[in-house]
Amino acid sequence: MRIMFVTHDGKESFVKYGLARNKLERVAGTQVARYEREDMCDSPANDSVGWRDPGFIHDGVMLGLKDGKRYYYQVGSDSSGWSTTYTFVSPAKDSSETIAFLFGDMGTATPYSTYARIQEESISTVKWISRDLEAIGDKPSLISHIGDISYARGYSWLWDNFFYQIQPVASKVPYMVCIGNHEYDWPLQPWKPDWSSMVYDKDGGGECGVPYSLRFHMPGNSSEPTGTRAPATRNLYYSFNMGVVHFVYLSTETNFLTGSKQYEFLKNDLESVNRTKTPYVVVQGHRPMYTTSHETRDYLFRERLREHLEPLLVKNNVTLALWAHVHRYERFCPLNNFTCGTLGIEGEKWEAYPVHLVIGMGGQDWQPIWQPLPDHLKDPIFPQPVRSLYRGGEFGYVRLVANRVKLTLSYVGNHDGEVHDAVEIMASGQVLNGIGRAAYKRKKNKHLLS
Ligand SMILES: [Fe+2]
Repeated sequence: MRIMFVTHDGKESFVKYGLARNKLERVAGTQVARYEREDMCDSPANDSVGWRDPGFIHDGVMLGLKDGKRYYYQVGSDSSGWSTTYTFVSPAKDSSETIAFLFGDMGTATPYSTYARIQEESISTVKWISRDLEAIGDKPSLISHIGDISYARGYSWLWDNFFYQIQPVASKVPYMVCIGNHEYDWPLQPWKPDWSSMVYDKDGGGECGVPYSLRFHMPGNSSEPTGTRAPATRNLYYSFNMGVVHFVYLSTETNFLTGSKQYEFLKNDLESVNRTKTPYVVVQGHRPMYTTSHETRDYLFRERLREHLEPLLVKNNVTLALWAHVHRYERFCPLNNFTCGTLGIEGEKWEAYPVHLVIGMGGQDWQPIWQPLPDHLKDPIFPQPVRSLYRGGEFGYVRLVANRVKLTLSYVGNHDGEVHDAVEIMASGQVLNGIGRAAYKRKKNKHLLS
């Protein structure tokens, strides 16, 4: 289990850990890293308004953990003092159950007014996930935040505020991330093909992925040079097993086209999954392959994603494809090239196409519009096509619970902490309740006729 924390002076610090709160017998050292104002690529990150000293980032790994046990830990040193005692449950390698809480675009809320836009709803998202962590007790789980993480966008102190805010949950379970436009986009980013001039802009506030790369340390060793004095961009694509699920994380901000390093990673990774061990494969990335929101800026991007990566997802029977970036929840039918697969609900042969969802409802309050405009109420300019089964504007997160029989993904809303939508997928790949509106209508008509 990896622990990351920040000190103001970078002095030698440790992680003490053990199986009893008052017996932290084992000790892990930490690596120290930091970044400088000169590493930032644009304003406001590199000007006096945005820059604040980030301190020293410590990174330690607790080794030799027993499977599925509750551990206790403190960080610090005898000379500088120790933190309060935190606790987590270690992963169980052969567990037949997987629990995860997933969302994108959460951000942070400061307890003071600031000219930098903040995300008040992020407070509720963390609150309800805390409730769920309490409820699952001694079962291991993880949190997955798929891009647009702190929304610091060059205002450095918002990163500190973000980590302070997620500490109640991030100190208890692994906090897994992938990169979003608001961690990265900057004018001179090295991979910016012609078709992406509308896609990749200046959304990173000049951070060019540096705080993201150093403040998190995800599995694998994917990296791309920044082309500046800044350290390489890391945590781009990786995968791991947890219980019965194989989780894959992608970067939609760097090259994913056929033949790229990332494409080869995904292809090899998906082809080598042992589906007996992990019957479910969950692929995640920031910018969606499918959305029905008004997002004209990324239209060409989505085409490339479908052209290059969708065949890999379909061919390898990926269970779920989770995306964010659009600040709403949307669930699609099992999809292949805009077409819903057959579900086998009435005994016909079914097709195990990936179920795509957009889960960017973690907290950012800027919303693309789905509804008819107020002065065009009879003219739904963003109608819901049959492939889109549920669209929700409420903030929240999704809860994944999977065992050897089935995977259930539930959409929890922040206003009441209750489930508002769910999809169930069998270990075989069959989707149980992904019927589109047209199919519902057909069934309803049958019922009326009989
Ligand atoms: Fe985004």
